[in-house]
Amino acid sequence: MAIYYKTKEEVELVRKSSLLVGKTLAEVAKLIRPGVTTAGLDKVAEEFILDNGGVPSFKGYNGYPATLCVSVNSVVVHGIPGTYELQDGDIVSVDCGVFMNGFHGDSAYTFPVGAVNPEILDLLKVTKECLHRGIEAAVFGKRLGDISYTIQEYAESKGYSVVRELVGHGVGKNLHEAPEVPNFGKRGSGPVLQEGLVIAIEPMINLGKKAVKTERDGWTIRTLDNRPSAHFEHTIAVQPGKADVLSTFEYIEAVLNKKELVN
Ligand code: MF3
Ligand code: CO
Repeated sequence: MAIYYKTKEEVELVRKSSLLVGKTLAEVAKLIRPGVTTAGLDKVAEEFILDNGGVPSFKGYNGYPATLCVSVNSVVVHGIPGTYELQDGDIVSVDCGVFMNGFHGDSAYTFPVGAVNPEILDLLKVTKECLHRGIEAAVFGKRLGDISYTIQEYAESKGYSVVRELVGHGVGKNLHEAPEVPNFGKRGSGPVLQEGLVIAIEPMINLGKKAVKTERDGWTIRTLDNRPSAHFEHTIAVQPGKADVLSTFEYIEAVLNKKELVN
């Protein structure tokens, strides 16, 4: 598949969609606590997106039934919201996409629920750092494999493993476009990073081994060893110099900082 490079105007439309994703995830962040159901989070996200002029990207995509992917503990990604009640000590990845003005935005954040084991909090910190290092590597003129290599190198240096079966992707008129953006790979390999390349970088990092399995619902991806997995995602655009980060954790982290003061 050919890569479709976006104009500056199109990048601005992806930014608008991605901004609404960030604000939606912040609404979800407000509700995260022991006892809330994952379907409850989904309902709030869907209403917020529709109220703000967007459409949930995931609902109906290849038959996916919900607005969010809500992936708890050993679920890596694509957890379907349902009756499960979050528990003290869980971690929960919330992944959201918005379609607006003809373009998608895509972002995910993994939240701790109540008091989480420090070993698992470290997994969250390192996975977010993998994303940030991957973005730092997304420099105009370098290659896609430099992003992949940077993420893998950092995750493995901390003793974690990188999921192979799922990867980041181009984002635009379609939720998933070329190129694939693996979280593992070789320096200097793959396409050159050119202006207008818009991609979602989304490290999925496991505390234990890299292997995953798909559950019988056809969506839920879980670690084979049932140990925890974390996932953070940003949509970015390549431009001369450093990448332009189109999605944001600013609203999410403002909510989390406020909650910390209350606790
Ligand atoms: N955010 C996920 C991704 O980055 C979306 C996949 S869920 C689906 O690939 F339902 F939309 F497929
Ligand atoms: Co994605």
